[in-house]
Amino acid sequence: MRANRVIIVTGVSKGIGCATVELLCSLGYRVAGWGRTAPDFEHTSFRFFSCDVADSAQVKAALEQTLNLWGSAEVYGLINNAGFGLFGRIEELPTDDWYRMFKTNVHGLMLATRAVVPILKQNGSGHIINISSIAGLQALAQASAYCATKYAVRGFSHSLCAELREFGIKVSCVYPGSVATNFFDRIPGIEPNEHMLQPEDVANLLCELLETSSNFLTVDVEIRPLKPGGGRK
Ligand SMILES: NC(=O)c1ccc[n+]([C@@H]2O[C@H](COP(=O)([O-])OP(=O)(O)OC[C@H]3O[C@@H](n4cnc5c(N)ncnc54)[C@H](OP(=O)(O)O)[C@@H]3O)[C@@H](O)[C@H]2O)c1
Repeated sequence: MRANRVIIVTGVSKGIGCATVELLCSLGYRVAGWGRTAPDFEHTSFRFFSCDVADSAQVKAALEQTLNLWGSAEVYGLINNAGFGLFGRIEELPTDDWYRMFKTNVHGLMLATRAVVPILKQNGSGHIINISSIAGLQALAQASAYCATKYAVRGFSHSLCAELREFGIKVSCVYPGSVATNFFDRIPGIEPNEHMLQPEDVANLLCELLETSSNFLTVDVEIRPLKPGGGRK
């Protein structure tokens, strides 16, 4: 079944997206990576399609290229992973920073979803997995714009889940705590470390979600490192 399924993953150059693409390919899926930057990864089952998800024309083109290569009948999954966070006090955060976060984290995720939904409806099955964050469940100080984007992902996911389940399409929303990736390059004072979740752990979960039985719908998954501070000394 895996070999018959095409999974689209957004934001694949590094971090959670790259780890997910690698695991999906090793499990036998065909994987279309839509992103601005290609990963340093090659596999016979993997194709990279250049796409800034915040640009609707580029999303449309990436879908067309994916369908030209593999057809529409086997497109099964969309993992909306592309995203980033910029933190700061509200009066200090440049307006452009919060616009850019909304354009990728919210509008980009919605554009990719809207492009793929008609194909999944035609196929009568599919699974859309959206990556929100713990910041989409619990507000953090000095991260108001990022939290707003991730709360938006949660609202979008829940509404879409209710809308699409009768078509046989699952929508799941995942809320990771800290994951050791380049996400923290833009966040001064926090370094990725071994106590955080690892991108491969998140990739494992995403693949498990894709493999749940056909009548099994996972709506929300909150995941956290067990010992974020390293545990008792
Ligand atoms: N790391 C964490 O602690 C954590 C926790 C909760 C949720 N998340 C979420 O997890 C997701 C993945 O983040 P990560 O931790 O793996 O960070 P990462 O290592 O920085 O990777 C982010 C990926 O998203 C891509 N991307 C960003 N904007 C894009 C756009 N407009 N179009 C296409 N691709 C774009 C980046 O591509 P480029 O290389 O071109 O920039 C990169 O491949 C994000 O949605 C993030 O908010 C992360």
